[in-house]
Amino acid sequence: MALRKLVAGNWKMNGDRAALGELAGIGAAAAGHANVDVAICPPFTLVAPAAEQAAGIAIGAQDCHAAAKGAHTGCISAAMLREAGARLVIVGHSERRADQHETDAEVRAKAQAAIAAGLIAIVCVGETEPERDAGNALSVVEAQLDGSIPAEGDGATLVVAYEPVWAIGTGRVPAVADVAEMHAAIRARLTGLLGAKGAAVRILYGGSVKADNAAELMAVPDVDGALVGGASLTAALFVPIIEATARVG
Ligand code: PGA
Repeated sequence: MALRKLVAGNWKMNGDRAALGELAGIGAAAAGHANVDVAICPPFTLVAPAAEQAAGIAIGAQDCHAAAKGAHTGCISAAMLREAGARLVIVGHSERRADQHETDAEVRAKAQAAIAAGLIAIVCVGETEPERDAGNALSVVEAQLDGSIPAEGDGATLVVAYEPVWAIGTGRVPAVADVAEMHAAIRARLTGLLGAKGAAVRILYGGSVKADNAAELMAVPDVDGALVGGASLTAALFVPIIEATARVG
């Protein structure tokens, strides 16, 4: 089943109010390519102003807390993000799994909180280079899915992003055959975990997606879009990825 593609930008800890000027060009490209959904996930401080300015694109965040409210100094709830204008939230990015020691159980709880607050949860999974070299990429990702995917997720509320850790920010991407193998395995696992709903959950590829490799990656079966870091920071870099994705359809 061909799903409507989503191209989501993850600004990570980059950007300021001046950078929101990039949203106009990105929004214009999104409006011109109605067969693709486009999102930008800026830092927390820019979510509200981005949501106020953005036309034609959804604004998301890069993390949320699993609890609705309470004594969690420095944290942000999914409902707060929703009120600020977010429509999506990334959970379980490999940088947070590494730097903040987030576990699969925490990632699932965050995804559940996001869905309960009316957000789309983008759950990230992906193997490290030693795990791939040892032949364990599929089993590592399947275990992450088993631990991170919320049972209530469906095509409208849940997106999975497969991001090999060794491909993030490195300019290296897996062979197309390896992307195809992984995305097929993720689809099978989602169907196993969620039943028929699993067929409608979009599976994004992330890790060094650029204008010159987007078309090839987006044409892989069960690649339903991209999660883009560095190349989402400017319209000049991001728009060609939207265009390439729209051409693949
Ligand atoms: P990258 O990051 O596109 O800069 O490799 C992707 C991500 O971490 O989401």
